[in-house]
Amino acid sequence: MKLPSQFYKPLAIGAPAPMREPPVKIERMIHFLPPQIEKMRNKVESLIPQVDVILGNLEDAIPADDKIAAREGFIEMALAHDYGTTGLWTRINCLNSPWALDDITRCVLEAGNKLDVMMLPKVEGAWDIHYLDQLLAQLEARAGITRPIMIHAILETAQGVKNVEEIAAASPRMHGMSLGPADLAASRGMKTTRVGGGHPHYGVLADGSVHGARDSSARPFYQQDLWHYTVGKMVDACAANGIKAFYGPFGDFSDPDACEAQFRNAFLQGCLGAWSLHPSQVEIAKRVFSPDPAEVKFALRILEAMPDGTGAVMIDGKMQDDATWKQARVIADLARLVAAKEPDMAEIYGL
Ligand code: GLV
Ligand code: MG
Repeated sequence: MKLPSQFYKPLAIGAPAPMREPPVKIERMIHFLPPQIEKMRNKVESLIPQVDVILGNLEDAIPADDKIAAREGFIEMALAHDYGTTGLWTRINCLNSPWALDDITRCVLEAGNKLDVMMLPKVEGAWDIHYLDQLLAQLEARAGITRPIMIHAILETAQGVKNVEEIAAASPRMHGMSLGPADLAASRGMKTTRVGGGHPHYGVLADGSVHGARDSSARPFYQQDLWHYTVGKMVDACAANGIKAFYGPFGDFSDPDACEAQFRNAFLQGCLGAWSLHPSQVEIAKRVFSPDPAEVKFALRILEAMPDGTGAVMIDGKMQDDATWKQARVIADLARLVAAKEPDMAEIYGL
């Protein structure tokens, strides 16, 4: 086992020291685009102020014949723009693919000072993070990178879910994790062809003794969230290690309501954002992952009523104490981050 005293040491001479915790940034949507398509690269300048994170995708959804063009396109778009406070990420190909080594090497050596986060797909265990961690440090040292590139794991294999706690704790370079429901469904042998979201047949039939015995047409059927267990497990692993949890993709662009419901479940369970694969999902993510103005107002009242965070008070008939004060802090802190980026939201929140 690595000694605790070594945990925050750079893994290569000349590499920047790892951060003690992920930077405090608003990351409500990670907006995916295919960098091999020039038309898409041309949209980057106008996208920068509209989204929290732009991600150049090199992995799934990029045809094998376009993999190298996607990598070159990503480097080009990284160098061509000033991203300001908007995050610049890439999703590289998985470590056992023929492209991963060059994805990592080229992106860091050519564009490492622009790159905030490298998203690593199909992470199975801490060993995948250790490999990337070491390689990034060597490349950062070679390229003279001054700010460490963080790692974001996709949780999308049964083995990854089994090892999620070790993955979350694997390195100070860990930024967070996203649920990858499509690959995870395949890896687990789930019987769905959807990319995230629910399934009409996964649910609970109301108890027969109350609703007309065996007449199932008289008994309500309540659809359940297929992803509840995994999101909960991921959020706990991330929160316990001080890193961030995200819901991943929602593939049915024709069903914005279902997308919003899935994103909101993840938000309420502790996730900070989700992927937007289509421009229409940017607004959904912005709406869902910015705290509700009524909740923010109530949270601010709790904080005001309990300036030192101790004791108990009643607000509108509801008991508040140290624990609800902490819940209020989560909502108020997030609202402040949103407000710092969006003046209209600052006004709505009264901040
Ligand atoms: C994302 O990569 C997924 O597999 O859902
Ligand atoms: Mg996947």
